[in-house]
Amino acid sequence: MTPHNDLRETAKRAMENSRSPFSGLKVGAALKAKSGKVFAGANIETASLGLTICAERVALFSAIAGGEREFEEIAIVSSADEPIPPCGACRQVMWELCGDIRVSTHDLKGASESFKLSELLPFPFEKF
Ligand code: THU
Repeated sequence: MTPHNDLRETAKRAMENSRSPFSGLKVGAALKAKSGKVFAGANIETASLGLTICAERVALFSAIAGGEREFEEIAIVSSADEPIPPCGACRQVMWELCGDIRVSTHDLKGASESFKLSELLPFPFEKF
């Protein structure tokens, strides 16, 4: 299995832990740090809908809390019928904490898209 497929499989396993009773959309993410460690996340929804957190930020915040500061790539897997792009909030947070990493996104039938984060967020806010 290539490292790329490995990351996708980790994201797919994390997706099974999604708590998404409101949208019904399951999302998993796997973020590879430069140390080689992989951090997984799933989307978590609560009844106060605006407090929902995306899979990508769960994975990234877990990695930061684990002491990681440099990253290579994130894979996203969802139950949607085509690969979903990361939301705008996640793009901004990933830009600030990860820089220009590779972002791949996959559905469960095997379709994929892959981007550099700078393609998804071409004019980022980065002051302060
Ligand atoms: N979601 C993610 O986890 N990642 C994204 O990039 C897009 C959206 C989640 C949030 C919410 O639980 C559900 O998908 C529907 O928006």
